[in-house]
Amino acid sequence: MNVLLVHAHPEPTSLTSHLVEIADEVLQAQGHEVIKSDLYRMQWKAVYDDQDFPRRANKARLSFIEESGHAFANGYQTSDVEEEQRKILAADAVILIFPLWWFSMPAIMKGWVDRVWAFGLAYGYQGAGNTYRYGEGGFAGKRALLAVSVGGPEQDYSPRGINGPLEQLLFPVTHGTLFFTGMQVLPSFAVYGTGHMDTDRMSNAVAAWRNRLERLFDDEPIAFRPQNGGAYSKEHVLDDSIAPNQSGLMVHIADNVGPNGLTESFDSLVATLRTGVTDDAQERI
Ligand SMILES: Cc1cc2nc3c(=O)[nH]c(=O)nc-3n(C[C@H](O)[C@H](O)[C@H](O)COP(=O)(O)O)c2cc1C
Repeated sequence: MNVLLVHAHPEPTSLTSHLVEIADEVLQAQGHEVIKSDLYRMQWKAVYDDQDFPRRANKARLSFIEESGHAFANGYQTSDVEEEQRKILAADAVILIFPLWWFSMPAIMKGWVDRVWAFGLAYGYQGAGNTYRYGEGGFAGKRALLAVSVGGPEQDYSPRGINGPLEQLLFPVTHGTLFFTGMQVLPSFAVYGTGHMDTDRMSNAVAAWRNRLERLFDDEPIAFRPQNGGAYSKEHVLDDSIAPNQSGLMVHIADNVGPNGLTESFDSLVATLRTGVTDDAQERI
């Protein structure tokens, strides 16, 4: 299989860079082809602006969506964007590896998404407006995974922790960015408390990460509800019979939505993340 690692950290000794090195090693050892986009090293242009459209459809007014569709359809995209799209289209799985910055990805990676997710490919697929999205679209059939280095301690991200559960904070990326394009998104991998990594915590984290990588093509994706799977009305509102009287982000994940709006699968995911290491991984330490 082909796996694309997109990563965002300029410091080779950072935890993020370490997670990239491990991913490269584990995936190659499993016989996968690893492709990398090291965004800082590539000096990736993070800002989406008029330079992205050297041959404009409309010179009078810059409409990003119109110009994105025009550039994609006519081969007028910049070469750096085309190259990244080629890498994604060749990949069976895409892993984004980054430090959590202000509860999200660093700007350079957000800019990678802004510029690479073209109209006609990642959205507006097949010129059909919003028809093919959330489970269908240009990146359907690929797996996606976030691996995040998190400064705060894990209890701050626990179900009632002050920051909110990490998987909910990352929802705009997992659901709104990756699943939106058709990708099947795996539960995120996180290393917490990165400011205080002693040898034990580091070996636990490494073992857990190796374990997740080995199961990249076996793990169950998050059960996000597909737009065209029958759960939503034609106005894209969840049917009244599903998760009745509940609202919020978690209703868009299928099965077992509990009274607090968290799914059972989400709770068990949090439990797994909090434990940090599976039994299998423990044995390797
Ligand atoms: C600009 C910036 C924003 C940050 N925002 C958060 C945050 O929202 N939540 C958090 O827990 N840690 C935050 N941190 C801490 C980083 O997550 C932490 O430095 C990182 O996990 C360390 O891993 P690294 O060695 O890969 O950089 C932030 C750090 C920086 C520099």
